[in-house]
Amino acid sequence: MELIRNHLEVLAEFLKPRMDFLNCHMVDYLTKDHWNTFIPLDIRNELNTSDDLIKAKQIFWNQFNGDYLKACGFPAITKHIQIMKRYRLDALPGACMALDDLKFAFNACLKQTRLRMPELMSTKKCHEVEIASAVVASLCAVVASKNSLPSLDQVAVVDAGDGKGYLSSRVALEHGIKVLGVDSNEGHTASAEQRRDRLKKKVRGAVKRSNLNNDDYFTTMLQDTNRVELNYKTTTKLIDFETDLIELVNGQFPDSSSSHFCLAGLHTCGNLGPNCLRLFHQNRHINALCNVGCCYHLLVEEFVHDRYYNQDKIKDNPGFGFPMSDCLRDKGFFLARNVRNMAGESLERSAVNQEDPSDKLGYRAMLQLVLRELKADEDSQVGKMKCKDFLDYTRKSLKRLQIDDSPISDEYLTDMEEKFEVELKQLKVFYLYRMTYAPVVEGLVLLDRLLYLKERGYDNSFLVKLFDPVVSPRCYSILAFK
Ligand SMILES: C[S@@+](CC[C@H](N)C(=O)[O-])C[C@H]1O[C@@H](n2cnc3c(N)ncnc32)[C@H](O)[C@@H]1O
Repeated sequence: MELIRNHLEVLAEFLKPRMDFLNCHMVDYLTKDHWNTFIPLDIRNELNTSDDLIKAKQIFWNQFNGDYLKACGFPAITKHIQIMKRYRLDALPGACMALDDLKFAFNACLKQTRLRMPELMSTKKCHEVEIASAVVASLCAVVASKNSLPSLDQVAVVDAGDGKGYLSSRVALEHGIKVLGVDSNEGHTASAEQRRDRLKKKVRGAVKRSNLNNDDYFTTMLQDTNRVELNYKTTTKLIDFETDLIELVNGQFPDSSSSHFCLAGLHTCGNLGPNCLRLFHQNRHINALCNVGCCYHLLVEEFVHDRYYNQDKIKDNPGFGFPMSDCLRDKGFFLARNVRNMAGESLERSAVNQEDPSDKLGYRAMLQLVLRELKADEDSQVGKMKCKDFLDYTRKSLKRLQIDDSPISDEYLTDMEEKFEVELKQLKVFYLYRMTYAPVVEGLVLLDRLLYLKERGYDNSFLVKLFDPVVSPRCYSILAFK
């Protein structure tokens, strides 16, 4: 626990003095001169020409390539990247477990994914499901073993925020474990049930393709594919602290002998992730937890109020999602909206795909100058906008905001784009520079969750890098068993 607390404190100390920068809004990039305010002088001094700015983007895209960094010839940017690397989860000793180490630790309880069944899933989902389903099944085996249960029949899984049932249906199908998928959205539950019915028709082909025709488990299953339905059920329900998950499972599986439970959740958005950790702590029947969070922008924070919270999206998951640990709560630590948004960026994917930040970031920053010129409300939210160029963007935005745009001529707008040509290129470098902080903020959020469990005495709690971040950016899972 001390190790995790120390790491968390190091990240908090590192981020705190940088919060103004991390929380700055791209909308204000030009009006508040972000380049000169926030980019350190030594880096700005390295970037004098358009060519330098193009090279800077290439450095950010190649930041995982050590040889490239050594030879790139921009010492200040390179130094910044090296410093940021020291604060990522991978670099903090003992903070995070690799998937191979987890498999090794499962030992005799390890369950493997053998079925090749990519149907009815995207490549990303398939990657997640193949890994997470084996991990959840292995955790159930750990629960059975630790509690001297005669078989896995006594363990059931509750999948919180089941969605279309990708993970839960696979755990039930491949490992014969009872799973109840719980989702607050009726449409999602209906889709999950439809998908389960379509999946049944694909099992035979998948078993053949995976050379499992002679496997006892699959042979028995193929004799009656309705077993999939018997093991995987869904229900539409909002999970909150009043929810009796045990009653819910027993209601759906009346003949079951399940006495022990594993609470799973793949991409539990916003507060649902933290609330799953709290449920694990509160409910003595829940013996294991496997939780992958997502949508940090939907987290409700205790120590800062966000007036832009989307009430529709946060109402399902009450309480505060950040911070969770006593360590950060005692400090009154907060992130705020733009930092949480930024934590959801995928540095690895953006680097591998060489993603250029959108031109629209620059358009919005210039629109802010136009709003100032028109003496309009600079807090206006434009939202997503399809457009072909800056002129088109501005006209459409002003129309959407119901602002009279007659005082602004087309020439004024085209001149503006020319005038800010350099600044617009710098803006993209600024964006990539700030993104180097995303994994550090995500690390802080995840270590805070892990420490919450450790502070409550769950020594068997771990942060594990389950997925390839290029394929699935929200790749970390909190695992725990009692
Ligand atoms: C990001 S989706 C993930 C779906 C699925 N697990 C997957 O990996 O594809 C999150 C799901 O959680 C559900 N959800 C959010 N809050 C919930 C709550 N309090 N109780 C039950 N379901 C909830 C949403 O309706 C949504 O289907």
